[in-house]
Amino acid sequence: MIYFDNAATSYPKPEALYQEIGSRMKRYGANPGRSGHEFGLRTNRAIYETREALNQTFSGDNPLHFVFTANATESINLVILGLLKDGDHVIATETEHNSVLRPLELAKSRGISVSLVSVDEQGRVNPGKIEAEICAQTKLVVCTHASNVTGAIQPIEEIAAITEAHGVFFLVDAAQSAGILPINLSKAKIDFLAITGHKSLYGPQGIGALYVREPMSLPVIKTGGTGSRSSDLNQPDVMPDRFESGTLNTPGVLGLQMGLDFVRLQGREKLFAQEYALTQVLMKELNRIPGIKIYGPPIGEPRVPVVSFNLGDLDSAEVSYILDDEFGIITRGGLHCAPLIHRRLGTSQQGAVRVSLGAFSTKQEIEAFLEAIRAIQKMM
Ligand code: ALA
Repeated sequence: MIYFDNAATSYPKPEALYQEIGSRMKRYGANPGRSGHEFGLRTNRAIYETREALNQTFSGDNPLHFVFTANATESINLVILGLLKDGDHVIATETEHNSVLRPLELAKSRGISVSLVSVDEQGRVNPGKIEAEICAQTKLVVCTHASNVTGAIQPIEEIAAITEAHGVFFLVDAAQSAGILPINLSKAKIDFLAITGHKSLYGPQGIGALYVREPMSLPVIKTGGTGSRSSDLNQPDVMPDRFESGTLNTPGVLGLQMGLDFVRLQGREKLFAQEYALTQVLMKELNRIPGIKIYGPPIGEPRVPVVSFNLGDLDSAEVSYILDDEFGIITRGGLHCAPLIHRRLGTSQQGAVRVSLGAFSTKQEIEAFLEAIRAIQKMM
């Protein structure tokens, strides 16, 4: 089997993850932060170490400002639905995933106005267009860092400079970029960073995080047990308890620690260089096949290791199915939960076949994939 669906979730995971989650849960799988016994304290320590690793990875100012969530979607919901009130205005882009577009639709029904900035034909956002939409009511700008469809990388540092200058909050959806692109919270005034653990951070599914620069600026929408100040019926303000109610996903956090370790030891820049080089080979060779149309930034331009394409008029889901069924190659067809960027690309009906590489992808796998596409093209 050749796995080219790393943008959906990375696979395989680092070997240590498979071993350590079970072994550590067996050694100290207590409920963290709920009591003072040694068993729980050891779990707590491991959880804190993971926050520290996140803080180090993204050059944050405080490990406690990284809140664990289930995924980037939950992180985004906490911000959009927590921050925005009737009469507020929010700006996002048409390259967003439904993790942003759907909370924005819900926000609209609560009296919040939404502006969606268009992107160019390669899927890139012009920060000037975002700035032009800012008005007195604008409270938040939301932008994905890297598109899960086109692979385009957005200039989040430039956008952060704009939002900072206008006193507007900035939320970055880093689902496709955390672990593979540089994100430096000490350089760019990103107020909220939504992270998922199971893609380029090589953790398990079901664990994500939200970085909150100024915790008291974000009203809570989720309350409940935190293990702290139990006599108080109000949610504690202390971090990370302010945003973490209910028992944490301890196996997920332990696994994320293994993933963060893997990225640190391999080196994020090395992983990016390796995957980018393979992406370029893939694009160059795909381009030679008659009838292929590749979307997103052209060869030689920055992109994350995501390549979406179509083969003539063939339905993308059908091509993806043939690749799986006849060649054992896993890709993702369809609309990738990002309908507006597909509308921009003119692929709302056909969708696109998406190949997404990861740390374990090889040149041989790319060659086998190209052979399969050539064979499918001949069948057309
Ligand atoms: N958002 C993920 C993807 O692009 C699941 O496949």
